[in-house]
Amino acid sequence: MKYKIIIVVGARPNFMKAAPVFIEFKKYKEIDPLLIHTGQHYDNNLSKVFFDDLKLANPNFYLGVGSGTHSVQSAKVMIEFEKILVEQNPHLVMVVGDVNSTLACALAAAKYRCSNQQYNPFIAHIEAGLRSFDWHMPEEINRRLTDSLSDFLFTTEPDAEDNLIKEGIDAKRIFYVGNVMIDSLLRFKKKAEESTILTQLELKNKSYAVLTMHRPTNVDDREDFKKLLSALKEVSKSIKIIFPIHPRTKKMLHEYRVNIDFLKIIPPLGYLDFIKLIIHAKFVMTDSGGIQEETTVLNVPCLTLRKNTERPVTVTMGTNIVVGKDQMKIMQETDKILQGKAKKGQTPKFWDGMAAQRICKIVYDYLKNNI
Ligand code: UD1
Repeated sequence: MKYKIIIVVGARPNFMKAAPVFIEFKKYKEIDPLLIHTGQHYDNNLSKVFFDDLKLANPNFYLGVGSGTHSVQSAKVMIEFEKILVEQNPHLVMVVGDVNSTLACALAAAKYRCSNQQYNPFIAHIEAGLRSFDWHMPEEINRRLTDSLSDFLFTTEPDAEDNLIKEGIDAKRIFYVGNVMIDSLLRFKKKAEESTILTQLELKNKSYAVLTMHRPTNVDDREDFKKLLSALKEVSKSIKIIFPIHPRTKKMLHEYRVNIDFLKIIPPLGYLDFIKLIIHAKFVMTDSGGIQEETTVLNVPCLTLRKNTERPVTVTMGTNIVVGKDQMKIMQETDKILQGKAKKGQTPKFWDGMAAQRICKIVYDYLKNNI
């Protein structure tokens, strides 16, 4: 018996999460993993470079859905993904993270099994149970709905399990396995050191800060965006800020015609270059989720430019501080870091490079006993 498992990727933060799981499944001779790329992210520097850096095989299917409003994008993913489900009839669909492709594919799989006599496929969600409790974030909608549709909920931190239990999810479906994003980080950290990005940008170890910013709540509202930029301008008086710019942010900057020559703007970086850049940064300012986790493991101070985080363990145990858009707070924390008083962190349990191994074993044992 060969078990067919579809692993879905769509956008930049999915690739480093799916790669270790896909590679691990390949080791099982009774498992046939298929990689499906929805095409939510399509630019080379948001997609292809990650396949190259992570040594991830080309996707078996590329759905080419592209950009659109949330509903259009999600609907297109569902239409295209359903065709794959009908053609492949997999035993299990595995989705990662919280992007639109995650929910759209989980929903298509759940609908598909309503019409399928064999009650296939099972649905697994990697990075389940994270909650920002902020329904204005598209990711929060994606997380909650994906979790409610999933048979296997693989979590990265203890709070996630508590959240799921409170929502009435059966504890038997929840597995605390650790963090697959950290599997990739630990696997590629040494290789990332070979990147020449610091030389290319003429940067010295710990002489600069890194900024990433692309959340609609930060960049889509002109006043909020300007507020944040004015805080960053203050920070830039003390330290050089390197800003690999996301296409959404670039578009908004163009629209607002604001001057940001106090930041060193560079195009989005590939995985290895970016990891090298943050390893050697004095600190990182971000509104991303995954970067809060990577900086915790790398013991690099992180200031999160949001009013909340769905990854509280990075605050309670790690190097993360949630500063929002508050200029005073951002300046206070920057000063502490520059005075050598940065927050030190510890690595959460199971962020040890073995999360994918745990996940694949749980899935394999289950399929073997139940199909
Ligand atoms: C998406 C995810 C977000 C994740 C982020 C990482 C959702 C709801 N959001 O946000 O959780 O943190 O990816 O990057 O799924 N664009 C390009 N090239 C591309 C893709 C997009 O230029 O390859 C531009 C398009 O103008 C597009 C815009 O970026 O309209 C936004 O892309 P989209 O995928 O809708 O959301 P992100 O902001 O990238």
